[in-house]
Amino acid sequence: MERTFAIIKPDAVERNVTGKVIEMIEAGGFKIVGMKKIRLSKCQAEGFYYVHKERPFFGDLCAFMSRGPVIALVLEKENAIADWRTLMGATNPANATEGTIRKVLGVSIEENTVHGSDAPETAAFEIPYFFNQLELV
Ligand code: CMP
Repeated sequence: MERTFAIIKPDAVERNVTGKVIEMIEAGGFKIVGMKKIRLSKCQAEGFYYVHKERPFFGDLCAFMSRGPVIALVLEKENAIADWRTLMGATNPANATEGTIRKVLGVSIEENTVHGSDAPETAAFEIPYFFNQLELV
């Protein structure tokens, strides 16, 4: 079994489609082992996305991610990291495969509804950024 980290981003929470995303997660065979609704400060968003700090979109991305609540999740299944990235679809919803979350619900490359860890090392940083061990069941 493998664990990955996911966020349902502010655009989805604002549009009341968190249930639709969770339905797709469960239909995809993932177990939700951690889930919480929180609102990131700008500073906390910057810490989470620090690997992107030199990118031109970093400021906008952190402003977006802190503009309203998000749902943070830890998902478990075999091959969870790669399978969650497949279910999310391409970063830009316009390029995403039919049936993926970003294709169905994404608005733009920034407001792309969901986040997922891109590698085991990333998951190992991102999961404890949001959850302690007692919160993963
Ligand atoms: P995410 O998977 O959360 O990881 C980094 C985020 O940066 C990405 O999803 C997009 O929402 C955002 N992003 C990536 N590329 C761009 C871009 N060219 N312009 C704006 N935002 C971007």
